[in-house]
Amino acid sequence: MSKRVRTAVFPVAGLGTRFLPATKAMPKEMLTVVDRPLIQYAVDEAREAGIEHFVFVTGRNKAVIEDHFDKQFELEHTLQSRGKHWALEELQRDLPQAGQTSFTRQQEPLGLGHAVWCARELVGDQPFALLLPDMLFKANPGVLKQMMEAYETTGGNVIAVEEVAPAEVSSYGIVGRGDGPDEGFRITSMVEKPKPADAPSNLMISGRYILQPEVFTILSEKNKGAGGEIQLTDAMQILIRQQSFTGVKYNGRVFDCGSKIGFLTANVAFALDRDDIRDGFVAELRKLKLL
Ligand code: G1P
Repeated sequence: MSKRVRTAVFPVAGLGTRFLPATKAMPKEMLTVVDRPLIQYAVDEAREAGIEHFVFVTGRNKAVIEDHFDKQFELEHTLQSRGKHWALEELQRDLPQAGQTSFTRQQEPLGLGHAVWCARELVGDQPFALLLPDMLFKANPGVLKQMMEAYETTGGNVIAVEEVAPAEVSSYGIVGRGDGPDEGFRITSMVEKPKPADAPSNLMISGRYILQPEVFTILSEKNKGAGGEIQLTDAMQILIRQQSFTGVKYNGRVFDCGSKIGFLTANVAFALDRDDIRDGFVAELRKLKLL
């Protein structure tokens, strides 16, 4: 039986330069889709998949993320005294339990691989999930939960993938597909941000991983790859010589909220899904002649 995945890592140290000036003083992970910050969606997805320890790799100017996952007594007291029980319950529901969160800092922006490596002492010698909060999914069940189902049979490492247009392959990590069904196929290779001609497929690594701790040993060599950064994809491409990597082509779709178009589209898609917002929002879109 595969060792249970209890811990999830959230790399949240990125500078968010694509969203300046919004991200000058506020972390990009606190940008909201409708009324929830991106980081909350990622934590919700992890909890749904059974995660019990939430490790955040933060950086300077990110302290508000730690505050977000803490109790806010003054606010709770005010909501209580004003009888806003639904809001209070929602706040309480969103919180991991006391002691389930850990924070460490990536001191320099050296790449995703380096950010993951910074979590090594907090994760220890056990498999872990990795969620990139920029990548927001509309999926039911959540993508990490779908991956956990595959992991129960395959063990090893698991990566969520989705098809992208050929012109977009150079923006993502891309996997080569071997045999097996969409719910769990063998990954044959991985390459970070390839030129379209060099891409082994059009299946992008969409920001959800289940990884074995041996990846930390490879990352500790700190080799630089695409863009001069320490790349997680390069470390996984080395690990694939010793361990299995399974691809899961999940049911659902991703919104790349690291891009403005992806972020705005996510807001529209999630708003149209909300019973309390849909009708009013559709009426406004009609006035803009968008529907
Ligand atoms: C990272 C990964 C890449 C993956 C992408 C998903 O790239 O390195 O393999 O496809 O996240 O968002 P980044 O977006 O940090 O450039």
